[in-house]
Amino acid sequence: MSAAPEQDMERRLRGLFGSNVGCEGPLAASGAGLRLTGIDLRPRLTPEQATFLLDALSRFGVVSIPGQDLETFSLAHMERFANHWGAPIPHPNNFLRGGKMAQSDGASDGPVEWLPFDRRRASVVSASFPGQLECLPHESPTVLVVSNFAGVLPANSEEQPAAARVTAGGSWHTDIEYEPLPIYVSMFLVHKSPVARNAETGTWVEDPTDGSDDIRPYLDGSDAELYRLRKTLPLNGETAFADTAAALAALPPSEQASLERTQVRRRLNEGDEGWLAPLVRTNPRSGIKSLHGPIWASRPRVRPAVEVDDMTPEASRALLDRLEAHVLQPQFRYDHPHVPGDVTIWDNYMTLHNAPPVKTNITSVDDARLLYRLSCKGDPALTLPRNDPPEWLESHVTGSYTTPPGTIDVE
Ligand SMILES: [Fe+2]
Repeated sequence: MSAAPEQDMERRLRGLFGSNVGCEGPLAASGAGLRLTGIDLRPRLTPEQATFLLDALSRFGVVSIPGQDLETFSLAHMERFANHWGAPIPHPNNFLRGGKMAQSDGASDGPVEWLPFDRRRASVVSASFPGQLECLPHESPTVLVVSNFAGVLPANSEEQPAAARVTAGGSWHTDIEYEPLPIYVSMFLVHKSPVARNAETGTWVEDPTDGSDDIRPYLDGSDAELYRLRKTLPLNGETAFADTAAALAALPPSEQASLERTQVRRRLNEGDEGWLAPLVRTNPRSGIKSLHGPIWASRPRVRPAVEVDDMTPEASRALLDRLEAHVLQPQFRYDHPHVPGDVTIWDNYMTLHNAPPVKTNITSVDDARLLYRLSCKGDPALTLPRNDPPEWLESHVTGSYTTPPGTIDVE
């Protein structure tokens, strides 16, 4: 996405965050990814610091800020930080709508009820490795707990543990691209990353595609090379990214121009009329153009496939499969290693991402992978609290959620 960070950027960084900070990048061959070291995210950001970070993401698509002290950096600090990037969005795992779980059911209706932590699926995480690994305390509905050990039996259980298994990985997507205002920025805080390695392969998991022609979770009908690209995923629990800005820039100018005029019809549920959304977005800060979610079926069997406006379904799928195969080429890929204490922020309009294969039914804490994700919508804010109009919140944020003042003021 960008050339190496100039000295000018480094000077600006030191002036804003102190002399112990540094920047390394790009992290990916495509030009994406920037690592900022020595930044403590507990204090409030000044408007100038927030501006610097927003600028960095607008150029690099992925920004990693490692080194947060998990003894003192809390999920309240994380949620306050997230407020600069957009309005934090409650995750469907964390509320009921009309008395039922809202996950992947866009048609559900009724009042929203936030679930307290001890009624969430994530609460079993702390029961899995007592005394060794506990979820960071939180009640916010915006925190999605990502873990691979919801099924660990307590040590005194007489039940036989299920056999360890390696998942196939997820499907390539951008977060919540199926709503009229898609998620703009998502971020992970890493609590635990697997350290166990297979003696033979040197990786955490063995490649689940070895000798397998299983296409799950994808739908059939794509060509073999596209399945191969989709299924080539990192094996140490990293999150896989693809740089859709570099991929767009690598296409012939005439094709870029044609894609800039292309609209896709997105739908929340099968049978909806849906709405038209641009395939190419221009970052308002950096001016960089990128492909937003150029995937025919990014949530197979959950959300309807995308259709290119004014094209037959066949031509539409052919175009989107071709774009997906282009974007997933190795030169646009970046696998981000998760290190405890790292805050990784990504722009969903400039990247695609995918969950890697993970070992489940684990019995050792060395296999544990524990991350917290927050996602944001709307415009950034240089100062907090945010000032989103009630009618905007009503339209775009479940339950018109806003971060409570106590979290914005966390010390
Ligand atoms: Fe995601």
